[in-house]
Amino acid sequence: MTGPAWEYDGYRPEEERLRESLCTLGNGYFATRGALPECTADAVHHPGTYAAGCYDRLTSDVAGRRVENEDMVNLPNWLPLRFRPAGAHWLTPDTDPVTDHHQVLHLDPGLLERRTRYALPAGGSLHVRQLRLVHLHDPHLAALRTEFTVEGDTVELEVESAIDGEVTNSGVARYRDLDGRHLTHVHTGTAASGTVWLRCRTRTSDISFELAARLTADAPVTHAGEGRRAVQRVRLRLPPGRTVTLDKTVALHTSRDPAIGDPLRAAVDRVRDAPGFDELLETHAAAWDQLWRRTALEVPGEAGSILRLHLFHLLQTLSPHTADLDVGVPARGLHGEAYRGHVFWDELFVLPYLNLHLPEVSRALLRYRHRRLDAACHAAHELGRRGARYPWQSGSDGREETQQLHLNPRSGRWLPDHSRLQHHVGSAVAYNVWQYWEATGDLDFLHGEGAEMLLQIARFWADSAGYDPHLGRYRIRGVVGPDEYHDAYPGASRPGLDDNAYTNVTAAWVLDRALELLRALPEPRRRELTEAVGLAEDEPARWEEVSRTLHVPFHDGVISQFEGYAGLAELDWDGYRKRYGDIRRLDRILEAEGDTVNRYKASKQADVLMLGYLFAPPELRSLFDRLGYPLDERTWTATVDHYLHRTSHGSTLSGLVHGWILARARRTDAWAFVQEALRGDIADLQGGTTGEGIHLGAMAGTLDLVQRGLTGLETRGGALRLDPVPLPELSSYGFAIRYHGHWGVHLRLRSGLLEIAVPASGRGPIDLRLRDLAVGVRPGETARLVLPE
Ligand code: BGC
Repeated sequence: MTGPAWEYDGYRPEEERLRESLCTLGNGYFATRGALPECTADAVHHPGTYAAGCYDRLTSDVAGRRVENEDMVNLPNWLPLRFRPAGAHWLTPDTDPVTDHHQVLHLDPGLLERRTRYALPAGGSLHVRQLRLVHLHDPHLAALRTEFTVEGDTVELEVESAIDGEVTNSGVARYRDLDGRHLTHVHTGTAASGTVWLRCRTRTSDISFELAARLTADAPVTHAGEGRRAVQRVRLRLPPGRTVTLDKTVALHTSRDPAIGDPLRAAVDRVRDAPGFDELLETHAAAWDQLWRRTALEVPGEAGSILRLHLFHLLQTLSPHTADLDVGVPARGLHGEAYRGHVFWDELFVLPYLNLHLPEVSRALLRYRHRRLDAACHAAHELGRRGARYPWQSGSDGREETQQLHLNPRSGRWLPDHSRLQHHVGSAVAYNVWQYWEATGDLDFLHGEGAEMLLQIARFWADSAGYDPHLGRYRIRGVVGPDEYHDAYPGASRPGLDDNAYTNVTAAWVLDRALELLRALPEPRRRELTEAVGLAEDEPARWEEVSRTLHVPFHDGVISQFEGYAGLAELDWDGYRKRYGDIRRLDRILEAEGDTVNRYKASKQADVLMLGYLFAPPELRSLFDRLGYPLDERTWTATVDHYLHRTSHGSTLSGLVHGWILARARRTDAWAFVQEALRGDIADLQGGTTGEGIHLGAMAGTLDLVQRGLTGLETRGGALRLDPVPLPELSSYGFAIRYHGHWGVHLRLRSGLLEIAVPASGRGPIDLRLRDLAVGVRPGETARLVLPE
């Protein structure tokens, strides 16, 4: 097989979880980790299959408290396929000598291949080759082809294939004190079509999962239900040198699927009617081919290979099938159990990319938020405020899912978790509503569900702001910013900080957009909305006032992360680096020392600097102007330098944002951060976290770094604006976007030249702006422009 691939050589138990995450296969509807089919869950392996948006809530006793947690459920495992020479023990790479092991993720066709040679106990060897796919065209199907070949004497091989309902959520060591047994009422059976099935349901959310499997072999297959496992067995005679093939085809349905009668019947029928492996592979690869064309990306070299892997995992989590689902952006993909499959603000790093390729998917992700608008309004109401407070962590029904306590594995202590005070997540939702509209021109959405969200988020900000007569300004108090390290003032009895600059500036932006939208709405719709949300007559005037007078603190010529930041102590960065090496999780280090990161000018990730990520310099300047704070270049540059030297990058999002900002500022230190963002998951830079799931925000962010960061692409005001900056290490690249109904608009940058090709269609020209230059590019035309120095 040719084409781009991601490869691993040799069997390394300590790396297995990382490989499982990075070799996950999925289709947006469900995904399965790249675990070896002959291995069961233990300290080395964590087979996991997750269906998008399927959660379950359980209560556990932790540190003397009853805590509730909602998890993205680990489904029954469809992978199991173990083998042994008749009468011997089941072979696994942990118990038997493996003389050769190779794992290849073929990105083009979305296929995982593994080749392993086992030395057999009685002499000779068994070569196992497997090909695995999770079907991209029919999202309910998956298949595993296994080829056995022996060297030495003829071997009678016993093979057992199963669907295993003996599965728990146990993929993250830190969560092991929490109840992870979500599956109940497990039943198994056989169907007339020579298939076995397993059905079960979740303990609280009562979602049922139905899986059916068909095993195809040149030998009689027997079926059995054994406890929580549906089993099929076959005995194969393997003469030396002859390859014998076995195909396992699996169908998955859940009780939430549309267009089915009963999900068990649907699964059994689907697997019965599924074609053979070769045909499945063909239709699967054809679906991938289309998707690759929609997301065409040409970046040479190592960066290009990593970006392609990132794109692959993004599309496996959020695929065209996502458009039909009620799901948000799970921070760790469908690739593992970290953060329990919850949805944070990470969509801020994902939707801007998707808007320009799969806008219907962006829209579905925004509709996930819209369906939970009532829950967000309820949460605001509980705080005594109007509008919508979106939860920091969101799951099934939109309530706040952030845990009450989190474990510091370094100290072994369970600590209160105040990250729910990150109300800025609402601004991320509003930003995405606006970005989606600008990229697509979808006014129906903006004036419909988009407006409902935007107005309620704006309202929450206006109601959260209290007037301070001493300052003569409005303040938002008691919040946490994107830098989660600071969640309280040192020694304070209550959590939360005042005047987080990122929160206040984005709140001002949201209020301004809400006012703009109110002005632009067709009168009948404005009336509808005003009635529906009960907008009081004086509210817009207050929004205007708050949006112009929110307080933004400054110190020593830089923007302060929050009021009081200036008084914090400086950390001995060199000392800590010397003592601990990796200090990304400085919060845990300091807590274990009996200290707290709250005392120091030390941030986990970009906070103030996020403003430079969201807004191009002219927009940022005008935002500050509107707030009555002139922001000159010197202040911004000093601000960048200040935080650059005081950030530990304890989140993968941090390297990305810093790389983006430094690249836009044409600084030579940009590449180190871009590299950090590129290597975050493949090299597991956050020390063991990738094995618990990929970092989807950072992965998508690196794609967007090429698409919008380097090109300066903006879709503001009905024009496609470009303002490329050079990044010498990444100097030639190309990609295709979908913009305002134009499909496959191809942009290529190389050697100081920008080329844009608009495929033929019946649409009007694209209004292209390259800095001060305006060009109309008609469908069927290619424009070549020399980049200004
Ligand atoms: C980061 C958050 C992020 C979350 C989920 C945390 O480590 O600090 O900004 O939303 O991970 O990715």
